[in-house]
Amino acid sequence: MVRQGQTALNAAATIGELLAWGSAELQCCSDSPRLDADLLMSQALDVTRSFLFAHAGDELDDAALDRYRSLVAARASGKPLAYIVGEKEFWSMVLTVTPAVLVPRPDTEVLVEHVLRKIPLDSQCGVLDLGTGSGAIALAIAKERPACRIIATDSSTDALAVARDNANRHSLGSIEFRHGDWCEPVLNEEFDVIVTNPPYVAENDPHLENLQFEPNDALVSGTDGMTAIRMIVTQAREIARNETALFIEHGADQAKVVSQKLRDAGWCDVESAIDLAGNDRMSTATWKSAET
Ligand SMILES: C[S@@+](CC[C@H](N)C(=O)[O-])C[C@H]1O[C@@H](n2cnc3c(N)ncnc32)[C@H](O)[C@@H]1O
Repeated sequence: MVRQGQTALNAAATIGELLAWGSAELQCCSDSPRLDADLLMSQALDVTRSFLFAHAGDELDDAALDRYRSLVAARASGKPLAYIVGEKEFWSMVLTVTPAVLVPRPDTEVLVEHVLRKIPLDSQCGVLDLGTGSGAIALAIAKERPACRIIATDSSTDALAVARDNANRHSLGSIEFRHGDWCEPVLNEEFDVIVTNPPYVAENDPHLENLQFEPNDALVSGTDGMTAIRMIVTQAREIARNETALFIEHGADQAKVVSQKLRDAGWCDVESAIDLAGNDRMSTATWKSAET
């Protein structure tokens, strides 16, 4: 794998030199080119990052060099690092990600924080995660509120397989995963908390060009990006009891329209909240049963 003290393959064949080269190659497409180069080298050599620091003067053999170059080329083409290394950290858990699931985002951790504020530590309440993808939201809630009864749904069986793997990987086997269209797999049940990060990008949104590696069904929702949210806001009423809280992540320009949809559908106490960049990127609401 790594040759110590042998002749360099070329002028830039030591780990240290190749990391500098990779970092320069990735300036075009990454906010963290050096970190990406480190992680790609770790992947190519199947070693930890700390190994790289301790062995910066070692040279790579041809096979390792080829692996590293092709990983850098994939990243330079815009492929998310998470899909290349097959993992992404979310809520201090390393999650498996495949091209079947959206790469979980740090902003969704803010959504989780809002949800957790609503659920007491020892609560046994029922929680529903709609469109679970990698399972990120459901797993984070299960980790922090282990007594809750958590169900997570998705219309993609491939995504559900990844989510189940992640639940097993983190010993969070109590989460129940169900296949189907939004609330349809749970229509005979009621929940205290309903959370979702649905697809919300409009079909012709130019940002989609930068998201070409992620699954279309996880991103796009009709001509205005609102198809999934409209369905969820309506369907969730059927599985809400008095004081059920609904949390929806959405686009930065959708807070007003989502709030209006929630009010039109009869949801109360509608509020928006900001993400890490200070944009209104989630809306919350409460269901009040008519008979109370
Ligand atoms: C934006 S991703 C969110 C994934 C994950 N919850 C997260 O926050 O990283 C949206 C998810 O909704 C799922 N989805 C799309 N249409 C759906 C539908 N009609 N019913 C259920 N899930 C759906 C997609 O497969 C995808 O996993």
